[in-house]
Amino acid sequence: MVTPVQFTFQETNIDEIAAFEGRVAVFVTTEGKMDPSARRVNRLTKGALARLKDAGLKPKDARVLAYPVGMAAEAVDVICLERNCSIDDARAAGVALAKARGDKPLLICAANHNKAAQIVLGLALRDYGFDDHKTDNASEDARSVTVMHTRADEIAEQAHPLLAVAEGAFFTRDLVNEPANVLTTTNFADRLVAMSDLGLQVEVLEEDKLAELGMGALLSVGQGSDSPSKVVVMKWMGGQDDSPNLALVGKGVVFDTGGISLKPAAGMEDMTMDMGGAGVVAGTMRALALRKAKANVVGLVGLVENMPSGNATRPGDVVTSMKGDTIEVINTDAEGRLVLCDVMHYAQERFEPAAMIDLATLTGAVIIGLGHENAGVFSNDDGLCSAFLKAAGQENEGAWRMPLGKAYADQLKSRIADVKNVGGRPAGSITAAEFLHRFVKDDMPWIHLDIAGVAHVKTDTTYAPKGATGWGVMALNRLVQNRFEDE
Ligand code: BES
Ligand code: MN
Ligand code: ZN
Repeated sequence: MVTPVQFTFQETNIDEIAAFEGRVAVFVTTEGKMDPSARRVNRLTKGALARLKDAGLKPKDARVLAYPVGMAAEAVDVICLERNCSIDDARAAGVALAKARGDKPLLICAANHNKAAQIVLGLALRDYGFDDHKTDNASEDARSVTVMHTRADEIAEQAHPLLAVAEGAFFTRDLVNEPANVLTTTNFADRLVAMSDLGLQVEVLEEDKLAELGMGALLSVGQGSDSPSKVVVMKWMGGQDDSPNLALVGKGVVFDTGGISLKPAAGMEDMTMDMGGAGVVAGTMRALALRKAKANVVGLVGLVENMPSGNATRPGDVVTSMKGDTIEVINTDAEGRLVLCDVMHYAQERFEPAAMIDLATLTGAVIIGLGHENAGVFSNDDGLCSAFLKAAGQENEGAWRMPLGKAYADQLKSRIADVKNVGGRPAGSITAAEFLHRFVKDDMPWIHLDIAGVAHVKTDTTYAPKGATGWGVMALNRLVQNRFEDE
């Protein structure tokens, strides 16, 4: 498990700056205005900051003074950042510091910067490396960051809920990065049960219970695997009344071989990330619990492994969902929707939430359409959808709305059953969404997020190194805050 950096917040004390060993960060404005700590560094270095400014500093520029004479630090990061900069710019400054510092202790001299807590969040999010399986993984000792501020207590208080979200995103990234021989369905469920310590109510539904409930679609996906299928329910009841405002449902395919419709070998190793939707649900629940959100949210994940075997589902098999609809399985590699349809139905029956959002690494087609920049957003409710898009925009997480429509749903007509699980090549992400739409009750505001392109990427993103991104934890947390939280 990768734990976020530990931050210590203390009142600005410029006398400590000269003796700090590690890296020191200070901020100057475009006009070259220096706060008291920057002034101190300028004096200690005999005017180095002033000379940097004279040499021209543009907004967001970051310069390094290496081995500054007059200081014990091995480097000073000088960042050009206005006191009232945007949230994105403050986070970007934190990201730059995370990249620059390696694993050196860091002293951030934020003096009286108004967005200090956002600088802290940017640093926390970017300071991640999944090295659990490296035998020479770095020690945790050096991962300390001190933040000096004239209102240290206030900044610590502002940073607390933001760092809860960072920890949630780390939880998601760890789950998504974890290989499938470690993150089995049982191991995944155990990690969720362990979150009871945070005040979440966690319940694991085992195969016999799922069979009793009639989840024939979900069970048909896992039946070829030696790992038992499970549904895990996580409840956070931080709101005033006792009904859930929001249900989050996640696809948790711990490995997707494609089943009997086997995937090609090249790139199949990436299918360890096919539990990304469940990972985001879990990380969001963790964030809500850590910051004690005043909202009632229930998270449900369907945990299965899609394997070929003598007992696996065959193409052409017909299975019956919990809702009662029969499904002709044309392609066993279109398994995510079979998992989700049962968990979504169960979520609505049991909890009658005011709204439901499902997340899944559902289709390769969404990557063809939107690449790795935006998740596909599908919704039957304009109000909920625009609230989500706004939240995602606020958190800099790419999201783009795609259409639904009867003509797409018609592509799923089956000759022998109520519906088939694939709709052909055209509009593959939309027909997948329409499959799920069938299992959404008429008056239920719903969003489907296809995160196949954004959950795991091969290059660094703004807030994460290559690999799992944690995409969605910040947006969903923000949506809860904006729309579902008591005053
Ligand atoms: N898990 C995959 C989708 C996926 C592809 C996620 C690439 C991340 C990266 C999903 O289960 C799948 O196999 N979808 C098929 C559906 C098809 C058979 C209709 C696909 O997209 O090819
Ligand atoms: Mn598949
Ligand atoms: Zn899949």
